[in-house]
Amino acid sequence: MKILGIETSCDETAAAIVENGTKILSNVVASSQELQAKFGGIIPDRAAREQLKSMIPVISEALVTDVDAIAVTSGPGLVGSLLIGVETAKTLALALNKPLVPVNHVMGHIYGNWLESEPPKFPAVVLIVSGGHSELVLMKGHGKFEFIGGTRDDAAGECFDKCARLLNLGYPGGPAIEAAASKYEIRISKFETRLPRPMINEKNYDFSFSGLKTAVKREFEKGNLEASALAYELQEAVVDVLVTKTIKAAREFKVQSVLIAGGVSANKRLREKFGEWSSEFGVKIPPLKYCTDNAAWIASCAYFNYNPKNWKEIQADPSYESF
Ligand code: KG4
Ligand code: ZN
Repeated sequence: MKILGIETSCDETAAAIVENGTKILSNVVASSQELQAKFGGIIPDRAAREQLKSMIPVISEALVTDVDAIAVTSGPGLVGSLLIGVETAKTLALALNKPLVPVNHVMGHIYGNWLESEPPKFPAVVLIVSGGHSELVLMKGHGKFEFIGGTRDDAAGECFDKCARLLNLGYPGGPAIEAAASKYEIRISKFETRLPRPMINEKNYDFSFSGLKTAVKREFEKGNLEASALAYELQEAVVDVLVTKTIKAAREFKVQSVLIAGGVSANKRLREKFGEWSSEFGVKIPPLKYCTDNAAWIASCAYFNYNPKNWKEIQADPSYESF
């Protein structure tokens, strides 16, 4: 079965065709990130206007073959952005008389682990870390998710984005923090300062990252540390907490695999630290290109959780709950 996926939840406009949930026949992503970077963050109106310009050219490039169904991200995300993908998908589904599957973006991220590779074994513990989410879920099968913990305030990506702005490192914050941290890393042999590791030892699977932002601000204002030193420390602190709690969950729930997903899973230090556990657990780290937003995993998620709906029932839902 070939599914055309459409994704427009944030600042990307993406379309892809995936066969049987795993084989990518096309995968096109247009991003307005460079434009957003000029303004230091996403301006929702501007993102939506760029997506309007790109939507049809992106679909036209991705449509390399006939498809059996259409899948679209219906939430969560920016409402103006979501509407562009959702309304385009509805129109296509109606005109071509194809089934239409709405997909939750956060759940979609997980399916980056099914693309072009051996399928992960269940049960799996999944760490989803994106700009808006930091969640740990137990995945017992396709569509069988159990939420075990999540952030009580800022998401990991949001923390990187806010701290990067605070340290004048630019946008998007995650890659900016990573680049600054790697410049610093080669000049030190040990930690010079330690930021807190929030909730690392608490007996739950929740996270809290807003205190780190305050700690970074306080240290930066003291003026003793350069931005790259704080970027390095911040990355160490966030990665430490994410890896420790995920591995703890993997042990408790006796899982067969550990999956990571979401934009922050592109982080090199996070990937390296999870990699250290691959002999003990089946740790799956998706290729970089499937970490950040694209439509291939939307199509894959729709295949493995195939539940078409009438176009009249599909609405863009900015606060769509995931699990
Ligand atoms: O999944 P994603 O592309 O979009 C959302 O669904 O939110 O995630 C975006 C988030 C941003 O906060 C961005 O700063 C972060 O992922 N991110 C990274 C890296 N690349 C993207 N964080 C740390 N290191 C990276 N290399
Ligand atoms: Zn995302």
